[in-house]
Amino acid sequence: MNARRPLIAGNWKMNGLRADGLALAKGLANWLVGDGSAHGDRFDLLVCPPATLVAPVADALKGTGLAVGGQDCHAAEKGAHTGDISAWMLKDLGATHVIVGHSERRTDHHEDDDTVRAKAEAALAAGLTPIICIGEIEAERDAGQALQVVARQFNGSLPEGATGTNVVIAYEPVWAIGTGRTPTTQDVAEMHQRIREEARGRMGDGADALLILYGGSVKPTNAAELMAVADVDGALVGGASLKAADFQAIALGC
Ligand code: G3P
Repeated sequence: MNARRPLIAGNWKMNGLRADGLALAKGLANWLVGDGSAHGDRFDLLVCPPATLVAPVADALKGTGLAVGGQDCHAAEKGAHTGDISAWMLKDLGATHVIVGHSERRTDHHEDDDTVRAKAEAALAAGLTPIICIGEIEAERDAGQALQVVARQFNGSLPEGATGTNVVIAYEPVWAIGTGRTPTTQDVAEMHQRIREEARGRMGDGADALLILYGGSVKPTNAAELMAVADVDGALVGGASLKAADFQAIALGC
C-alpha cells in the first residue's frame, strides 16, 4: 500500500430493505468506532445503499465516520426526469459520494462515456465525490485491448475540473464482477499504473493523490493480495459488502 489513505466502498446494488440495510450499516459503524481499536485510522469506509435507503442510512450513521454514497445520479440538477434522482438530492440527504458509470448502468441503461462524464460533473457541482467506474469486457481483454479501452474510458468519463482529490476512479473489469474471477495481480498492477499515467496527463502531479480502487469479486480471501498491489488504493466491493463480517475483513486487508 502507498501513502494514499485507502477507501473501502460497498456497493449494495439493488439489495436491501429498510430493516436489513439499517442493521448492516449500524453494525459496520459500531465496528468502525465502537470497540476502541480505531480501525478508522487506517482507511475510510463508505456504503452505497440503494436510493431508497440513502436517507435512513445517512441519518443513522451521522457522526460515526462511516460515509454514505449513492449508486447513480442524473446529470441535471432538477426537472422532468421521471424516476431519476439528482446529485443535489443525494447531497441533501447526507451523501458524500456517488458511483457513476458502473458497468451495470453502462449495459442496462446504455450509458456512454459522455453520459458518465456529465453525471460526474453534476456530482462535483453538487459537492459530491464521483466514483467513476471504468473497465473492459472479457472479449476486449482477450483481444489484448484492455489497457487502451480503459484509458479511453478514463479520458472520456473524467469530468472537467477533476483533480486528484475531488474524484475517485474504480477499475472494475466487467468479467470479474460477480463471477468470482479476478485478474492476476500483475494485470491489476499494469492497469492501475496505466490509469495513473493517464491521470498524470490530465491533472499533472495531482494524479499522485488520486484514489484508484479495484472492484470485481473482492472477498476476504483475496483482499490483502489485491490491496498490496502498487497503485491500488482501496476497493469497490459488491456482493461481499452485504455481509458485515466479509466487508470488515476486506477493510482489514488494506
Ligand atoms: O461495484 C462493485 C462491483 O461491481 C463488484 O461486484 O460482487 O464482484 O464484488 P462484486
